Amino acid sequence: MHGGSALRYIPLMHNEVAFRLNGAKVALTDSPPTESLLRWLKRHALTGTKEGCADGDCGACTVAIVEADAAGQRHYRAVNSCLLPLGALSGREVVTVEHLADGADLHPVQRALVEASGSQCGYCTPGFVMSLFAGFYAGELDDATTEGNLCRCTGYAPIRRATRALCGMQPGRDRFAAALQGAPEPCPATALGKYFLPTEIATAIALKRAHPGSRWIAGATDLGVELSRGRADATAWIALDRIDALRRISADEDETVIGAAASLASIERTLGGRIPALDQMLRWFAARQVRNRATFGGNLGTASPIGDLLPVLLALDARIELEGPGGRRMLAAEDYFTGYRETVREEDELIVAVRIPVRGWRTAAYKVAKRQSDDISIVAAVFALGLDDAGRVVHVRLAYGGVAAMPLRARAVEDFLLGRRLDETTLTQAAGLLGEAFTPLSDHRAGADYRRALCANLFLQFVAEHAS
Ligand SMILES: Cc1cc2nc3c(=O)[nH]c(=O)nc-3n(C[C@H](O)[C@H](O)[C@H](O)COP(=O)(O)OP(=O)(O)OC[C@H]3O[C@@H](n4cnc5c(N)ncnc54)[C@H](O)[C@@H]3O)c2cc1C
Ligand code: FES
Ligand code: FES
Repeated sequence: MHGGSALRYIPLMHNEVAFRLNGAKVALTDSPPTESLLRWLKRHALTGTKEGCADGDCGACTVAIVEADAAGQRHYRAVNSCLLPLGALSGREVVTVEHLADGADLHPVQRALVEASGSQCGYCTPGFVMSLFAGFYAGELDDATTEGNLCRCTGYAPIRRATRALCGMQPGRDRFAAALQGAPEPCPATALGKYFLPTEIATAIALKRAHPGSRWIAGATDLGVELSRGRADATAWIALDRIDALRRISADEDETVIGAAASLASIERTLGGRIPALDQMLRWFAARQVRNRATFGGNLGTASPIGDLLPVLLALDARIELEGPGGRRMLAAEDYFTGYRETVREEDELIVAVRIPVRGWRTAAYKVAKRQSDDISIVAAVFALGLDDAGRVVHVRLAYGGVAAMPLRARAVEDFLLGRRLDETTLTQAAGLLGEAFTPLSDHRAGADYRRALCANLFLQFVAEHAS
């Protein structure tokens, strides 16, 4: 044991830290824990995995990792290797494109792409192959399977044909399916360099204290971009993705509790249909490779004014649970932000969970971005509305991201709407107020006037769709 009985992680000897790559165990002896898997693969002459952007945007670097769900069932998940720090791989299994063909026999996903003429220059193809591979074994094949993969020359129709051809096929009992049946590698709750992988919250908090200047790291979809640009620095990294208590998702008649380190994809799979506004926002939140790693804790931890998840929490009256050396505390989502990238979270506190109450309100989430999917919001809006039998507003939340230094509710407009019927006069006045509620910036994505217009128009769209 390290540092007394409270710390439940075992710092193994450096050369014992390993992951399984294409079926073979590989030691991570020569590698800094913050190096991306993509860099490591290139250094080791595994050049099938391609680099397009090194930012998580193009999918050329997609590989599959094995992850166990809450029931212990193992699945392949597509992830961007350019964002994945080696530290996160300790004890995990990775499959790259080199492993798919069996001698001259292509894997069914490769054959499907060939038969549909789904590749021309071929640079993007390994990424498409790996997204399809993970979807094939996970039974998740649809047009969204490859939404995180960009192709510049083939065009997407042949790739979609290949996806549809695969939808009709069942994976056989091949070596990849067999690998999912095997016992999981024991998680070596270990330390690789200064990259700690605690398995309990208390250990994570104690480690943070023991290493001033250290940082939490969850899915690394924000930090991975910083790391790949050489901009992230910390005295140590404390990973949250091995802490079961942070990955739990539970729901009862009163509330839904989402662990801060549960991946957004696992939230979609577990809660799909229960919180429609969250489903709608997650549908447009990045691509599957990113959602397979990204977390609520990371979205709130980044404290971006254009983060898409806080508006959902604001509209749904959610609470955020924090824990630090001083214990656990709960706060309303609207009390979380205090300014531009500033929050009430103390540096040594971690976000444990978000709690979303069950209410009967009408809700919807909207996201306007330059691209339909996999793009940053110009404006995100999430609404909740309750009407009495006479059609008067008894409850209303109008939450926005992208319109100020932090996500905000349009409180003055909410107050204006309470007790009124949503007739034409009220809606015209409310739209006018919403157009003046915030002072958004103009930037390369959109002008301030456009953002102001969106605030009003998205609300009118919500009323037309859900309350007329
Ligand atoms: C291609 C791409 C597309 C994206 N699209 C979107 C999008 O559509 N909408 C959107 O909102 N974001 C988007 N993002 C940003 C990112 O995916 C999200 O912010 C994500 O939720 C971050 O989660 P993570 O677990 O990867 O965070 P990490 O990168 O691991 O951490 C981010 C920050 O949060 C801190 N942190 C992590 N967990 C905790 C915790 N439990 N408690 C306290 N602090 C913590 C870390 O210290 C770090 O400062 C995108 C990113 C990429 C690369
Ligand atoms: S290189 Fe573009 S997503 Fe990784
Ligand atoms: S085949 Fe050329 S980029 Fe896709």
